[in-house]
Amino acid sequence: MNAPASRPPIAPPLWLLAELTYRCPLHCAFCYNPVDYAQQRAELSTGEWIDVMRQARQLGTAQLGFSGGEPLLRDDLEELIGEGRRLGFYTNLITSGIGLTEPRIARMKERGLDHIQLSFQDSTREMNDFLSSTKTFDLKAKVARLIKRHDYPMVLNVVLHRFNLDHVDRIIDMALEMGVEYLELANTQYYGWGLVNRAQLMPTRKQLLWAEAVVNEYRARIGNRIRILFVVPDYFEERPKACMNGWGSVFFAVAPDGTALPCHAARSLPGIAFPNVTEHRLGEIWYGSGAFNRYRGDAWMKAPCSGCPERHKDFGGCRCQAYALTGDAENADPVCARSPRHGDVQAVVLQAQRMQAQGVQPIVFRSDANSRRLAAVEK
Ligand code: FES
Repeated sequence: MNAPASRPPIAPPLWLLAELTYRCPLHCAFCYNPVDYAQQRAELSTGEWIDVMRQARQLGTAQLGFSGGEPLLRDDLEELIGEGRRLGFYTNLITSGIGLTEPRIARMKERGLDHIQLSFQDSTREMNDFLSSTKTFDLKAKVARLIKRHDYPMVLNVVLHRFNLDHVDRIIDMALEMGVEYLELANTQYYGWGLVNRAQLMPTRKQLLWAEAVVNEYRARIGNRIRILFVVPDYFEERPKACMNGWGSVFFAVAPDGTALPCHAARSLPGIAFPNVTEHRLGEIWYGSGAFNRYRGDAWMKAPCSGCPERHKDFGGCRCQAYALTGDAENADPVCARSPRHGDVQAVVLQAQRMQAQGVQPIVFRSDANSRRLAAVEK
């Protein structure tokens, strides 16, 4: 594992995302976990996670996120939080809320958890429960109250798509009622299960424009009562997002089985051997592995990115999206209007809308059975 000689110095990772488990009680149609997650049952032990956290801290990592699947399904979550805090991380729990009881949140508070991000699927019970294929709306509402009661800043995340974009006003009203401080309205990113259900989830431009106008209206009206982040979907943009702030730049994810990833979706990229934290030290992986060096800097870029004045701003966009849309992760992210494949993105949007009009494709909810079926089809 040797770093290429001609690259600028590599800064340490700022953010460690510990994906503790792929297990989850929900069945969301837009889940970003790998579609074949049911075949990846292995999980690092408590001791192995603590070792990962120690190594990351030694590298200089400051933020630690616990996610999944549903991280609350790990009985050792409180212990990991306590250790993370003791090591000096700013700790963040990313959760559906299912399983967050009064005694558990009290223990987390005691162990020093800094921040909880709770997800809702919609402002209505019907849509929330439909999109997660569970009856969880009331439970989530209870958890939201629990979070407030324990004096956490309330961070609410709602993934947006064509089924709930028209409810954006009601979603903000719900957030106001809950006393939310930060509301993240994140339009669906098409990775994992979101990619499988892309034709179903894709909104229309009209829906997006309306939702964005509503968000701006609320921002003007309610001022700082809630900070609202509205993440526009890539497929409707002319420039790509600076995904992960650049590959191997600030973000280090560790999958449940210990696979080290520069982004949550990287496993979808073929031909890259992602190292495992049970076999290699984190520093070795971050600075020296072929996987983390693969798309660092700009030496790997082809035209039009290689000669583009914006390449240090967007880093060529998203590698996983370039692969999903063009079949080659080294291509420019075709969301960029400068990409010769930009027309493919628009074609995908139009095709999704045609399919919606014909009503032909059912939603494939995340489940073990669907995961095994799709993995078999892939093979
Ligand atoms: Fe993998 Fe963007 S999600 S590089």
